[in-house]
Amino acid sequence: MSELAVHDLHAGYGGAQVLHGVSLTVAEGEICAILGPNGAGKTTLLRALSGMVKGRGSVKLDGAELLGRPPDALARLGVAHVPEGRGTFMPLTVEENLRLGAYVRRSGVEDDLERIYTYFPALKPRLKQAAGSLSGGEQQMLALGRALMLRPRLLLLDEPSLGLAPLITRELFHIVRTINEQERTTVVVVEQNAHLALGVAQQAHVLETGRIVLSGTAADIRADEQVAQSYLGYRV
Ligand SMILES: Nc1ncnc2c1ncn2[C@@H]1O[C@H](COP(=O)(O)OP(=O)(O)OP(=O)(O)O)[C@@H](O)[C@H]1O
Ligand SMILES: [Mg+2]
Repeated sequence: MSELAVHDLHAGYGGAQVLHGVSLTVAEGEICAILGPNGAGKTTLLRALSGMVKGRGSVKLDGAELLGRPPDALARLGVAHVPEGRGTFMPLTVEENLRLGAYVRRSGVEDDLERIYTYFPALKPRLKQAAGSLSGGEQQMLALGRALMLRPRLLLLDEPSLGLAPLITRELFHIVRTINEQERTTVVVVEQNAHLALGVAQQAHVLETGRIVLSGTAADIRADEQVAQSYLGYRV
């Protein structure tokens, strides 16, 4: 549960600039949705927040500057990133993947494992199974479980619904909401499914070609059909 303040963030790959001055704040314990078309820079934004790409500007978590620190230092500060494509280690077992999520901590790991099984009961009978043999939905749950093992203050989720059936996706978003409510974890979620994301988020931002073109409460953005059609290209 921490406040995130991003100010004038620029980031990209080599010479190719992708983010052109992104500013946003996410209040402590809130869920913020980042929407926008393919290639807008949503993934790049999360990568810049978790130290996977270099950024310029300022990214503060409870006042502490995150930019310029390596990903493991950010993990120690409580930044957990579930990347696009999940980032689980396929040859390792479910349990090994979960334990890896707690690599920056020594104490409380057993209790946290139990907590993860409460959120994701489907994982418990599969602890010794290779992550690569899980279904898509189970893999996404494992990826989220692994991120939670960090006891994150800030949870970054990139397209959690990707490739999942609608029912599983809704279940997953329900769990994200529960985690957010019970643990007051601040969440930034990138999602193509605007309807779902706006259903769990308090605030939302629409990113287009590396710039925020629209910000508001999730309820306002949902309620304004014209906005939805012109910025999101479809009804929410
Ligand atoms: N590793 C990389 N090297 C060079 N360019 C990249 C790299 N990753 C992404 N890009 C470019 O950065 C731009 C933004 O990509 P990004 O993945 O952030 O978009 P996105 O909003 O997440 O899109 P999508 O909805 O398709 O996931 C794109 O033009 C993409 O080609
Ligand atoms: Mg992406």
